[in-house]
Amino acid sequence: MLVSAKEMLTKAKEGKYAVGQFNINNLEWTKAVLITAQENNSPVILGVSEGAGKYMGGYDTIVGMVKGMIKDLKITVPVALHLDHGSYDGAKKVIEAGFSSVMFDGSHYPIDENIEKTKEIVSLAHAKGISVEAEVGSIGGEEDGVVGKGEVADPKECKLIANLGVDMLAAGIGNIHGKYPENWAGLAFDALEEIQKLTGTLPLVLHGGTGIPEEMVKKSISLGVSKINVNTECQVVFAAATRKYIEEGKDLKGKGFDPRKLLAPGFEAIKQTVKEKMELFGSVNKA
Ligand code: 13P
Repeated sequence: MLVSAKEMLTKAKEGKYAVGQFNINNLEWTKAVLITAQENNSPVILGVSEGAGKYMGGYDTIVGMVKGMIKDLKITVPVALHLDHGSYDGAKKVIEAGFSSVMFDGSHYPIDENIEKTKEIVSLAHAKGISVEAEVGSIGGEEDGVVGKGEVADPKECKLIANLGVDMLAAGIGNIHGKYPENWAGLAFDALEEIQKLTGTLPLVLHGGTGIPEEMVKKSISLGVSKINVNTECQVVFAAATRKYIEEGKDLKGKGFDPRKLLAPGFEAIKQTVKEKMELFGSVNKA
């Protein structure tokens, strides 16, 4: 069922677990994430970056594929189709195309402009029952060409954005996209506690889910994180499994070149990673 992310995240916040956002890149990714969510009776959020949106052909293609797959594969767990780090124009486009959730990332604007633009996206999205994620304090690292320098969000600014009626808030707490460097200082839990105090029941979002140690993930959930984004880790396991298949020469044996065979190990690797994350986040059997 394609739904807004609001209800699943409200339940997660109350139940002290987190729903995973898994970014998708193509049909195999989408199918792997949806089937794993169904097998584990877990709500799930499919994340689409603007770059991945373009890669897959466009937002209409993605809406068609996801809705079709939910129907054909008999997926009954709640699924949100969410724009990841949307620009102002990108957010408006997915609202038109039929996404059920949208992130408007105005963190690179001065706070007043972030507030103005977020407010406008909230009004457009809510008119159609679409949930909205906003961001304060940029997430570090690079994702699809979008580079953030990794700030810790100002809790007062978080409160200002929370007051706009957003459904979830991504607040930078030292998290970064991609792999964490050796000398990473870890998550800023004191900032997270402060943000949670000021924003109350609003579900908080932890970006950069790849490579955060398990204890830190659990602690962040206990401090109000209800949505955790994972992208790079699925890409890494997919690539490793595909590499192994080819290095073992399996593509050269029989009909091993058939894409359905060639991409199968990567598909299974994504499924395994998504299952492990759902278990860690506590969303299994919460559909
Ligand atoms: P990772 O690529 O580090 O898992 O981050 C994903 C993310 O935050 C998507 O917005």
